[in-house]
Amino acid sequence: MELKLDPWGAVHVDDYTKLFEVFGISSFDEILPKLEEPHPYMAHKIIFGHRNYDSVLRAMQRHEPFAVMSGFMPSGRAHFGHMMVMNEIIWHQQQGGDAFAAIADMEAHAVRGISWAKCRTLGINEYILSLIAFGFEPKDGSHIYFQSENYKMRNLAFELGREANFSEVSAIYGFSGETHISHMESVMAQSADILHPQLEEFGGPKPVVIPVGADQDPHIKLTRDLAYRMRMFLVEQRKDYISIRGKAASKELMQSAELALKNAGYGKVKRYEEHIDVTDVTNVLNIDDTINSRNPLESIDRLIIKLEIEHGHYGFIPPASIYHRFMTGLTGGKMSSSKPESHIALTEDPQEAGKKIMRAITGGRQSLAEQKKLGGEPEKCSIYEFLVFHLSQDDKELLELDAECRSGRRMCGTCKKDVAERIEIFLREHQQAREAAKERLPEFGIKN
Ligand code: TRP
Repeated sequence: MELKLDPWGAVHVDDYTKLFEVFGISSFDEILPKLEEPHPYMAHKIIFGHRNYDSVLRAMQRHEPFAVMSGFMPSGRAHFGHMMVMNEIIWHQQQGGDAFAAIADMEAHAVRGISWAKCRTLGINEYILSLIAFGFEPKDGSHIYFQSENYKMRNLAFELGREANFSEVSAIYGFSGETHISHMESVMAQSADILHPQLEEFGGPKPVVIPVGADQDPHIKLTRDLAYRMRMFLVEQRKDYISIRGKAASKELMQSAELALKNAGYGKVKRYEEHIDVTDVTNVLNIDDTINSRNPLESIDRLIIKLEIEHGHYGFIPPASIYHRFMTGLTGGKMSSSKPESHIALTEDPQEAGKKIMRAITGGRQSLAEQKKLGGEPEKCSIYEFLVFHLSQDDKELLELDAECRSGRRMCGTCKKDVAERIEIFLREHQQAREAAKERLPEFGIKN
């Protein structure tokens, strides 16, 4: 199977471990033990991979500034897949992060041809109300915004465009001579969405995590590259010293860096034509640092970032990301906003949702007799997935259900009825909370 992560095409990735090798995504297994109270998606391995999440984890545990940011394209109805991103944003906000949620109306307009008016109503009705209903709080430093109205982000997008050229984005996204320019602009808008929480107006450089489905990884990789390209210096750990390469730094900036490093007293500082080395750094080899002490590499990088900012540059830290598994659609294949039978929308009539569950594809066998004999296959069941992803936080219950199904004691009819009921209750509650959220839109600066 050819593995291609394509943010706008239908992606089906069967084997997530391939992502680790082919794309350089790291396994979340290495992070999980370091979290005291992981989100259930983490504990249940629904979040399976990450880039650079260590940076966010450290900030979170040290109570230093960090942010979470993700976006939603208002092109259809929000379903349980989108809810995962919402919950991941909200959880990080509850851990003390600044939260940013973009309604990607520029992208929906450019790529899908959705009118601005439609973007507006879909953005509010499908995404913003549910975000608020699930617990997004109007804290200082947190923002829900429409891309088209965020000029700080848009100005940054223009600036980032200087660092990305046509051949490069074509190779990543398959653009051709036919691709229109607004589509390309929407790619820069997304990179700017991701980086703008680090602008001075939003508190300056800090670790930012982007929770997304794995199909969005090309955006993340490009944005991490762009963040790097906007830097004046590259700060790296070499064997037993730290190298500060002035990749785009002026002579004056090099001199300031030398001075700042000398004053900070991390070790012996020596400046060359295009780089500075800091040797004899205390603890430099002990780089897998503890939570409470910042390692020298990070400390020096922060010092250099501060300097870059003083000289009018951005000093971006490469954004981190976490990736969750896709839910299987109720009809098999990927869950998709454009296929109503494949998903349950957050605004779905609860009874209709129950009916969709009753019609869904399960891991059951051809006949009742066969199922009793062979048992069901929960790993192939879209209903069981709903339980694991959303409807049961109880590991013991899940294990029991799994065992009952496999042993042929639990039949699909009963199971579906159970899940249908749970979904109906869930949707009723959520939809009530959405009603209450309508009153609260002004708290988020959203005019209805
Ligand atoms: N491109 C995303 C989608 O198709 C939406 C999006 C816009 C986004 N800006 C973002 C996602 C920033 C993550 C971060 O759904």
